[in-house]
Amino acid sequence: MAFRVLHPNFLSLTLLSLLAVASAKVYFEERFDDEWENRWVKSDWKKDENLAGEWNYTSGKWHGDPNDKGIQTSEDHRFYAISAEYPEFSNKDKTLVFQFSVKHEQKLDCGGGYMKLLSGEVDQKKFGGDTPYSIMFGPDICGYSTKKVHAILTYNGTNHLIKKDVPCETDQLTHVYTFILRPDATYSILIDNQEKQTGSLYSDWDLLPPKKIKDPEAKKPEDWDDKEYIPDPEDKKPEGYDDILKEIPDPDAKKPEDWDDEEDGEWTPPTIANPEYKGPWKPKKIKNPNYKGKWKAPLIDNPDFKDDPDLYVFPNLKYVGIELWQVKSGTLFDNVLITDDPEYAKQLAEETWGKHKDAEKAAFEEAEKKEEEESKDDPVDSDNEEDEEEDADDDSDAESKTGASDDATETKKEDEALHDEL
Ligand SMILES: *[C@@H]1O[C@H](CO)[C@@H](O)[C@H](O)[C@H]1NC(C)=O
Ligand SMILES: *[C@@H]1O[C@H](CO)[C@@H](O)[C@H](O)[C@H]1NC(C)=O
Repeated sequence: MAFRVLHPNFLSLTLLSLLAVASAKVYFEERFDDEWENRWVKSDWKKDENLAGEWNYTSGKWHGDPNDKGIQTSEDHRFYAISAEYPEFSNKDKTLVFQFSVKHEQKLDCGGGYMKLLSGEVDQKKFGGDTPYSIMFGPDICGYSTKKVHAILTYNGTNHLIKKDVPCETDQLTHVYTFILRPDATYSILIDNQEKQTGSLYSDWDLLPPKKIKDPEAKKPEDWDDKEYIPDPEDKKPEGYDDILKEIPDPDAKKPEDWDDEEDGEWTPPTIANPEYKGPWKPKKIKNPNYKGKWKAPLIDNPDFKDDPDLYVFPNLKYVGIELWQVKSGTLFDNVLITDDPEYAKQLAEETWGKHKDAEKAAFEEAEKKEEEESKDDPVDSDNEEDEEEDADDDSDAESKTGASDDATETKKEDEALHDEL
């Protein structure tokens, strides 16, 4: 593509990888250079409610290279929607690789870090939460319960969530998320070039009805014995068993010295539980020799299942977009790639994230240390105080919006509820 800039580093790759790179079809690659705004369209979604967040073109507070910039959400409690167009293509008979890097510089407590691929004609100025999409992929964090990689595929007009749990990264550093979809209907999810999940579209999403179902006509045979244990027919109640009393007179009890039989009546000792008493007699249980196991209906071919050899195909992919709600801003996207070549994607990740990750980590640790020292020097203005102030601000925001008095927890609950709606 016109804006694809090959880094000098590519020259140092092996001949084999160069061949792989040369054969890669790159549908879209965005490293966010100075021209990025010519390619991306900011949506007007939520603008009239003053809830459309601004993007910051930056390398962030910590990075491995100050010139390697991306786009970062910069306002709290805002919706974000931005997209870019590429020449329409179909992934039929080809592998589809969708990759990008994301860094949550804020300590993210509720917000997405995912991207979408859209198909067909989309009015980019109106792109928002209701715009249909084909694939939604990337990390999502909200509260303690949601910390996962979304992989939602739209099939026949319905969004289908992946059924497997794929945990996402939760630290404040850059990570690369890769989704690979192959013509044999298998997929892989990678984080930082490591495969975290792989499998089949047939088993890990409910795109199609199941191939096999339990035979609805099948009935458990009358003589099917599914009792694992039965009372031992040989076991007999011991003679005299029922003569054992539940309670007996306390053998240790003594008639009080001052007991007067004439005045007080005949003395009877108090009763206690009989240690010999074992409850009503029950025969002991033995393994049932006729046990056949739990009955299960046999599986039959599902008459509603119709295979779709194009299950993995998205015929009109044309846009990539970010559409998010963020409670706390600071999520930075970079190095967006759509290609047919996992090897090319791997190299791009190595060349960007891989090359800078150690320096970024060092810069992050430095920033943490500095913050810690500053809060030590000036204990009044500690982190906690700042956080409390922020929360107080959040409250007034919420109040002005809802006209109701909220506390911080309720604001948070609202945010999470809003997040769940999305
Ligand atoms: C953009 O990010 C940089 C680096 O973190 C920061 O210094 C700057 O204040 C940010 N600008 C806006 C408008 O948020
Ligand atoms: C597609 O959706 C329609 C309407 O919901 C439904 O009737 C049809 O069976 C679906 N086809 C497949 C292959 O899922």
